[in-house]
Amino acid sequence: MKEKLTFLGIETSCDETAAAVVREKNDGTGEILSNIVSSQVEEHKEFGGIVPELAARAHVEKIEFIVQKAIKKSNVDINNLDGIAATAGPGLIVSLIVGLNTGKAIAGSLGKPFVAVNHLEGHALSPTINKKIEFPYLLLLISGGHTQFLEVNGVNKYKRLGTTIDDALGEAFDKTARLLGLEFPGGPKVEEYAKKGNENFFKLPKPILNRGGCNLSFAGLKTAVLKISKKLKNEKEKYHLAASFQKTINEILYEKTKVAMSEFLKNKKNKKKTFVIAGGVASNLSIRNNLIELAKEKDFIPVFPPVNLCSDNAAMIAWAGIERFKINAIDNLEFPSKARWPLDSSAPFLKGPGLKI
Ligand code: KG4
Ligand code: ZN
Repeated sequence: MKEKLTFLGIETSCDETAAAVVREKNDGTGEILSNIVSSQVEEHKEFGGIVPELAARAHVEKIEFIVQKAIKKSNVDINNLDGIAATAGPGLIVSLIVGLNTGKAIAGSLGKPFVAVNHLEGHALSPTINKKIEFPYLLLLISGGHTQFLEVNGVNKYKRLGTTIDDALGEAFDKTARLLGLEFPGGPKVEEYAKKGNENFFKLPKPILNRGGCNLSFAGLKTAVLKISKKLKNEKEKYHLAASFQKTINEILYEKTKVAMSEFLKNKKNKKKTFVIAGGVASNLSIRNNLIELAKEKDFIPVFPPVNLCSDNAAMIAWAGIERFKINAIDNLEFPSKARWPLDSSAPFLKGPGLKI
C-alpha cells in the first residue's frame, strides 16, 4: 500500500452537490486538497423545504462540473488517485444515484478501487480529518436530516445510543422558521429572532423528556409551535416564539445529552471523555454554549469541527473512503444506493407511526 493515500469523494445524498480530494498526512489526520460544495438553497427556497425531483435534477446538472473543479483545484492527476469514494446512503434515492453512479463510472474507467460510504459514517469520522481524536468518542449529530447520539468506537464500529423518532432537529428549526414566515433554511434566522425575544413567554412541550433513554422527539413541539403561530398578534410575539422554541430545544438537548453521556460511560472502556458535536445546527451559538456548559459540568471535552466539515461536504466522504480502504472495506460497482442505512445495524428502527418507547 502507498504511504499516503489520496481519495476523491463525492456526496449527493440530499441537497448539496459536493466533491473533494483528501490526502492522508503522516500524523494520521487528513489534508483537504479541495472541497467543493454547491448548495441548492436557491432551488428549494420558494418551496420552504427540499423537493426530491428538483434536487436530483440539480445534481445531474452540476455533478460533472463539481467533480472536475475538485480535481483541478487539488492539483492531483486523476491517474494518481488511490481510490474513489461516494455516498451510497442514507438519503434521497434520486439524489444518491447521481453521485454514486458518477463515482462508480470514474472508478470503473480508471480501474481504481471504489468505496461506498455511509453518509453517517462520513459525519462520524469528520472530526478526525483535521484533529487527532482518540476513539472512542461520543458524537451528537444535529443536521437537517439526522439527529443521533453515536458512540464512535473506530472505523466501521459504531453504537447508536439514541436517535430522533420523528423530525430531525434542523427540520424542526426549518419548520418553525416557515411558521414564522422566515425563508428556508430557517435555522440561522430563528436564532436571530430568538435573540430579540423573551424565552419564557410561551410554554412549549418537551416530548419524551423523561423516557425513551436518549432518543428524541420534536413532532409534539412542532404542533405546539403551529398552534401558537396562528394566534400571534405582532412581530414581537414572533421573536418570543423563536426564543421560547430555542430555549425548549436547549432544555431537551441538555437532558438527553446527559443521558447519552451516562450511557457512553456505562461502557467501562470509555475512559477518555470526548464529546463531538457536528451538523449544521451545531453552528447555533446558544446551542453550542448550552452543550459546552453541560460538557464542563460532566467533565467531557467538547469538540466542534469547523462548520465546513460538519455540514454536508465531500471531504468527509473522501476521508471515510480512505479509512475504509485501510481496513480493506472496498466495494464492487454493483453496490446499490440505500434510502435507509443505519450505521449500527443492531439499533432498532425507531421512525414511524405507532411507535411506543
Ligand atoms: O448539516 P447541514 O448543513 O445539512 C444537512 O442537513 O445535512 O444542516 C442544515 C440544517 C438546516 O436544517 C438548518 O436550518 C440548520 O442546519 N441550521 C441551524 C443553524 N444553522 C443551520 N439551525 C439552528 N441554528 C442555526 N444557527
Ligand atoms: Zn449530513
